[in-house]
Amino acid sequence: MALLFAAVAMAGQWGAGWTIPQGAEARQNPKPVTPAMLKQGRSIFERSCQKCHGPQGKGDGPDSDPRSPAADLTDAFRAELNPEGVMFYRVMNGKPPAMPSFKSQLSADEVWAVVAYARSLRKAP
Ligand code: HEC
Repeated sequence: MALLFAAVAMAGQWGAGWTIPQGAEARQNPKPVTPAMLKQGRSIFERSCQKCHGPQGKGDGPDSDPRSPAADLTDAFRAELNPEGVMFYRVMNGKPPAMPSFKSQLSADEVWAVVAYARSLRKAP
């Protein structure tokens, strides 16, 4: 899998037209994930993400457009394609038009917190 990431990252493309800069996928949360961080991430998720991604992160929130649904963040296949550095990049930069960019609303610490929380949803039943 690591080799695939490297190959895709070197090509400069990630998915359909979603450019991820070289090295972004290797970025890691600079802080250890703590219960306090997950709690902060949860409140950001409920405020900013849940309306599209759904309460369990399954992509079934009321604002999710059925023609371009919000991603199921708990899906094992997608999870494998989304190391935390890629999730961080996607939340920071969004993917127009459906996935908003949060760069101007959230600090890097807040994005890492919500990414940590979203990753914790993967283990939910
Ligand atoms: C307005 C609706 C909307 C909101 C709000 C939203 N998203 Fe998204 N998100 C989307 C859509 C739609 C996609 C899928 C984009 C695509 O693949 O074309 C997506 C994709 C993603 C992805 C990439 C997942 C993958 O497997 O490709 C991540 C990670 C993500 N969102 C996290 C978040 C987080 C965290 C928040 C809150 C800070 C958030 N999103 C808020 C609509 C939204």
